[in-house]
Amino acid sequence: MSGYLVEDTRKVTTHRLLQMKQEGKKIAMLTAYDYTTAQIVDGAGMDVILVGDSASNVMAGNMTTLPMTLDQMIYHAKAVVRATKRALVVCDMPFGTYQVNATEGVENAVRIMKESHCDALKLEGGVEIIETVKRILAAGIPIMGHLGLTPQSINKFGTYTVRAREEAEAAKLISDAHALEDAGCFAVTLEKIPAALAERVASELRIPVIGIGAGGKVDGQVLVVADMLGMTKGFTPKFLRRYADLSTVMTDAIGHYIEDVKNGDFPNETEQY
Ligand code: KIV
Repeated sequence: MSGYLVEDTRKVTTHRLLQMKQEGKKIAMLTAYDYTTAQIVDGAGMDVILVGDSASNVMAGNMTTLPMTLDQMIYHAKAVVRATKRALVVCDMPFGTYQVNATEGVENAVRIMKESHCDALKLEGGVEIIETVKRILAAGIPIMGHLGLTPQSINKFGTYTVRAREEAEAAKLISDAHALEDAGCFAVTLEKIPAALAERVASELRIPVIGIGAGGKVDGQVLVVADMLGMTKGFTPKFLRRYADLSTVMTDAIGHYIEDVKNGDFPNETEQY
């Protein structure tokens, strides 16, 4: 069995993630939005698959995550769940589905869980949404928090630059992280914040802290699958490590196919009935 393939094939649970933190085992998380990709990601031994609202950028070509709808997230989550045997599947609640009030938040959370069969939800924000977080948790739905750079607030931030460099914002992030843990969230994602701040949050919280652009001293890492596979071009943040150059591989393969079709080489006699 390859080094990255896990021998423990039991379905990952939120409880197991907590155990992994306690045992000092790192948590690997990656996005997926469709059946075929999720099957590969899960088969490779991923702990958590995030059906991120980054589908808005990656799958739909939008500039931000804001246009994503509840129906679209459910569509993507259903496809990922169908493909996944082992990983915990977390689905993002899209912009506008939990910020209006707690009742609407619970209704929308229940709809995602009922229709997609995913395992948990992720919500962006801290104390501003804590009543909604508590109500969703009270309905029996596990929640992963998301602090730091929260892309659904891009119009308030005005930029995708590193967050919480200033003391006041860092202090708010720390108290938001504690509020999410106290409310009962099973994990928190920290996006694009100074590594020292993320390390502090991870050491103060009992629940796992998953980082993206938050340094290595947290309990796990998450990346957008199309970015780490090198399918996306022109997105080169410092935190992104590219593990493949699929854009080149795919362009070469597709170019080869075009050539074969044009010169009559495809299909050949063994590729017909
Ligand atoms: O939507 C997403 O892909 C995310 C990750 C970047 C954490 O929220």
